[in-house]
Amino acid sequence: MLFFLPGLIFGQKFPDLAPTPPMGWNSWNTFKINISENLIKEIADAFVKDGYKDAGYKYIIIDDCWSLKQRDEAGNLVPDPAKFPGGMKALADYVHTRGLKIGIYSCAGTRTCGDYPGSKGFESLDAKLFASWGIDYLKYDWCNTTGLDAEKAYTTMRDALFAAGRPVVFGICDWGDNQPWLWGKKTGQLWRISGDIAPCFDCVIDHGSYKDWGVMKVVYVRKDIRKYAGPDGWNDFDMMEVGNGMTVSENRTHFTLWCMLASALIMGNDVRSADPATVGILTNKDMISVNQDTLGIQAFKYKDIDSTEVWVKPMKNKEWAVCFLNRKKEPVSLEFNWTEHKISDPDFDFKVDFSKEKFRLFNIWTGKKAGTTGNVVKAQIAGHDVLVFRLSN
Ligand code: GAL
Repeated sequence: MLFFLPGLIFGQKFPDLAPTPPMGWNSWNTFKINISENLIKEIADAFVKDGYKDAGYKYIIIDDCWSLKQRDEAGNLVPDPAKFPGGMKALADYVHTRGLKIGIYSCAGTRTCGDYPGSKGFESLDAKLFASWGIDYLKYDWCNTTGLDAEKAYTTMRDALFAAGRPVVFGICDWGDNQPWLWGKKTGQLWRISGDIAPCFDCVIDHGSYKDWGVMKVVYVRKDIRKYAGPDGWNDFDMMEVGNGMTVSENRTHFTLWCMLASALIMGNDVRSADPATVGILTNKDMISVNQDTLGIQAFKYKDIDSTEVWVKPMKNKEWAVCFLNRKKEPVSLEFNWTEHKISDPDFDFKVDFSKEKFRLFNIWTGKKAGTTGNVVKAQIAGHDVLVFRLSN
């Protein structure tokens, strides 16, 4: 009988769970070990009250350090009762009742990165437990995995999730160490491409055995992988640091890049107490619609014009998003004559010759129409800031 159910025998990933990049919030960047049921409930409330849900954010993801340090006698993971006294099922119900989805974290190794029990050897048990709680998203880390083959280990969990029967977005988090873009699309919906992000524009924080990376460092850590990303399999540039201490310009640039790069948009700040500028950035619907464009093409860098980078994202209906990014701390004056530019996508079949084709311009961050590509753009861009246009025909 089983021979006629190849899905059950060989497993597969749940199809079509992320036709556009997943959007949500994750506890790690701000809260680390200090997580609780109350925090998650308050985040869910803020999603509804402060417009995040309306803007498209959906997943609330509990990262590492949610369980007890040991499994119970039956081998099950146990939510730490001091942090989650009502248990995960009730918490998932709370989140679901608000029209949102809930995510959790585990690790392919013997222990998580924070030294809690990992899923190695317990994949099926853990997947069933997560399904019984109503979990919708699993971030699956890569600590304490000596001797494991990444593709196999992630496939084991993929199959366990599938067999458990509840659709779960599966986030691969091996920091790009095992080239997940080559195999991730059949395994999960997104894969991290770098070590952990840090809340700074271009810094590197050296911890000795590992490093954390500023926004621009994450953007540049890999080359030639945009061709692997697309609907249902995304390059994940990590949880965002918008609202975690950078300037407003830097926050805007960080968010713009994550949208242009078709990354998952997972907020990593305390959304309960975010200031108005941060909320405005994170919920800008015009910018988000660039990220959520259903063609799912990741932007590429077209050119450097002195310190200004020009990023370009082909979109559906022959639209484009074009971002001018000032890498310097000081303001720059930009003069850009569209008609002198022919742009062609290095990986996909998209081309535009602005001397032959004219587009209307919409300035995404001012929310205003901005003439056409028949005019020369003359603008001042503040330090570490962006000027972003949506081009339509
Ligand atoms: C890292 C991961 C982080 C966070 C942390 C938890 O490996 O990249 O995003 O999940 O583990 O310990």
